[in-house]
Amino acid sequence: MNGPAAAFLARLLLAAAFCWQAASARASDVPYVPTPMNVVDAMLGLGSVGPGDYLIDLGSGDGRISIRAAARFGVSGFGVDLDDNLVGIARAAAAKQGVGDKVKFEARNLFDTDLGRATVVTAYLLNSVNLRLRPQLFEQLKPGTRIVTHDFHFGDWQPDQKITIDVPDKAYGPPRSDIMLWVVPADFSGVWQWTLPGAGGDVRHEARLSQKFQVLYGRASAQDRQVLLADAKIRGDAVSFTLGDAAGAQRYSGRISGNTISGEVQLPGGGRPLPWQATRIKTGKMDISATDRGRMQVAVSGGLPKEQ
Ligand SMILES: C[S@@+](CC[C@H](N)C(=O)[O-])C[C@H]1O[C@@H](n2cnc3c(N)ncnc32)[C@H](O)[C@@H]1O
Repeated sequence: MNGPAAAFLARLLLAAAFCWQAASARASDVPYVPTPMNVVDAMLGLGSVGPGDYLIDLGSGDGRISIRAAARFGVSGFGVDLDDNLVGIARAAAAKQGVGDKVKFEARNLFDTDLGRATVVTAYLLNSVNLRLRPQLFEQLKPGTRIVTHDFHFGDWQPDQKITIDVPDKAYGPPRSDIMLWVVPADFSGVWQWTLPGAGGDVRHEARLSQKFQVLYGRASAQDRQVLLADAKIRGDAVSFTLGDAAGAQRYSGRISGNTISGEVQLPGGGRPLPWQATRIKTGKMDISATDRGRMQVAVSGGLPKEQ
């Protein structure tokens, strides 16, 4: 290679290295604002956090959520934060409180973190960051995993529960916090079939189910006659719904495993529930697409931006 060509190649490599470095040195998506301790306790309460849970705190700051969960309930897990200094503070605090063996803190980007082990995820981020995170949560978290956020939501994925508590020492905005819980839903969408014993022999049932996040809807038939499917609910891997009108509704409840739902059905008129097993003969796909991105973001000085 001659002199000018070598110099050109060297400049090209230098530029590529610079671009790579700029792209990988990612700026924080959210400023550091600690969650007041009464909110931390309420978050752990709403998430029903207890022994046996594995908690991941996304953007862990000084580590207070993970450390409290470990100290109070013996919960293990880890927190991640982009800020090395905060990670150091969190590690030292965990050691000081005697839970350094239970909770670990890593300096890393939450978007590059494998969340698969979590039974509980906590986050005090921003709506816009939560929305970017949403596909990752559905991809990596097991059905039934609880996600608890402080003040910020996941757009059109509605929380399963929400509480508001007084926070006299809140660093910004009104002295209150919203705490929200989402339970990652299993995917029940598709065509399901089952039979139930009837007076004249087995009765064939079919339900064609669609699902948007944890909202389940569809149509059903019994022996090819349309029946009303109502009151469908999903919580993690559990489902319940009624078939038929109020006068003669069958109440189904069960849990999904692969293409099978096993549970029971309460027939109209009381009596002992019957065992119920449904088989999915055609899989669908839960809709997790965003339809609600256009929310306003208003800056509030001295704290997190206010997002509606
Ligand atoms: C509002 S604070 C919450 C701290 C803590 N979870 C709490 O509730 O007290 C948000 C934290 O997220 C961190 N953070 C922002 N973007 C991040 C990212 N992409 N990956 C990891 N941490 C991030 C910030 O450094 C900050 O400490």
